[in-house]
Amino acid sequence: MKKVAVIGTGYVGLVSGTCFAEIGHQVICCDIDRRKIDLLKSGIIPIYEPGLEEIVSSNTELGRLSFTDEIGAAIQASDIVFIAVGTPMSATGEADLTYVKAVAKTIGENLNSYKVVVTKSTVPVGTGRLVAQTVAENRPDSSVEFDVVSNPEFLREGTAIADCMNMERAVIGATSDKAAKIIAELHEPFNTTIYITNLESAEMIKYAANAFLATKISFINEIANLCERVGADVTEVAAGVGLDSRIGAKFLQAGIGYGGSCFPKDTEALKHIATQNNYEFKIIESVIDINHRQRLIMLDKIKEALGSVQGKHIAVLGLAFKPNTDDMRYAPSLDLIPALLEMGATVTAYDPVAIPEASKQLPAETEYGANVYDTLRGADACMILTEWNEIKEMDLTRARELLRAPIVVDGRNCFSLQEMEELGLAYYSVGRPVVRTPEHAVV
Ligand code: UDX
Repeated sequence: MKKVAVIGTGYVGLVSGTCFAEIGHQVICCDIDRRKIDLLKSGIIPIYEPGLEEIVSSNTELGRLSFTDEIGAAIQASDIVFIAVGTPMSATGEADLTYVKAVAKTIGENLNSYKVVVTKSTVPVGTGRLVAQTVAENRPDSSVEFDVVSNPEFLREGTAIADCMNMERAVIGATSDKAAKIIAELHEPFNTTIYITNLESAEMIKYAANAFLATKISFINEIANLCERVGADVTEVAAGVGLDSRIGAKFLQAGIGYGGSCFPKDTEALKHIATQNNYEFKIIESVIDINHRQRLIMLDKIKEALGSVQGKHIAVLGLAFKPNTDDMRYAPSLDLIPALLEMGATVTAYDPVAIPEASKQLPAETEYGANVYDTLRGADACMILTEWNEIKEMDLTRARELLRAPIVVDGRNCFSLQEMEELGLAYYSVGRPVVRTPEHAVV
């Protein structure tokens, strides 16, 4: 059992802190946001993540997990301190290290015994060294030693607990063998592959992994766009390509591009790191451009389906950047709904959980439906932006009856072409032939 402090109770900090408690360690999760800590202490989870509330509550009851805004005291009481604060995208695309630097200073000021300082936040290569320097400069007693480790997090929102409890690998980039051993021991109960590297490699692994996954998505989206022009079906192409074990079937789902808290930020940050090091990272620049373009392709499709969007009523299903989260960061809906409104459409939108978050960010004239069917009633077309199960499993016969015109523009390939054809729904998806009905353009 190790004594761990996790600073920052966002997705990464809260989930990994809770999972470390779940495998038996003593964990204090800290945040400067008093309101957040008060909520957590009373068992309320400030983010939507399936299963998190239960596992937080059981570990709190067992006394293995606690919350505090007294960060200094938590650091002093711990042997391992995780930095899990945000590294948002700055105006130039660079990762903003303000919070990481502030936490490193606080750790230095409270360094009362040997500690391993671990960066979980996604940080540019070289940040570990900066953290080490900041801790060293701020410690009250320069004879007190510490080590710095980079231990990037690979969890996905929506499946964060399962990803963390069954992690495929723990990457540990350490400044000493002693620290690498301590962090490897911390991960032992996860029964995962431990991969030890130097500090810089671990920092780079996180960016390289996210950039590669984003590349897979932009690549399959380009194949999808080409499929549409040659009569191929991208779902068949992806499945056929994915059978090659060197490629793999995962992350080849064509759609309206990636969003969320990681891929947009990390691809931009990697591009920035390259530029700063006088290197033109051409692939990542294209991946970013393709991702922007892919969202806007939805507007071409709705225009093709409706002739003009002006004066039309569009039902938008799905607002979050992906299912099982209320996270709206870089969600395609944030680009597409304002564009539809600007083109003169009216929009009624629905999402199973993200409406409270979305309504803070979408234009005020956006209306919201109470459920899928309420949203579809009387609309001139339906546009699908997130592949929630509730949306994939909707009763299409009922949907057809509720829509004023039987048109579905689907950015996530939720339905089979045959099914839509049989039901008489005009269906525009991504990278697949259009299903037309004789009357669909007449509204
Ligand atoms: C991602 C990484 O998967 C995770 O390892 C990292 O730590 C954080 O970033 P997350 O952003 O939670 O996780 O979601 P993920 O499920 O990876 O999806 C990211 C985006 O890619 C979503 O917008 C999703 O819709 C899109 N996507 C994913 C596709 O368009 N096609 C795919 O085949 C897969």
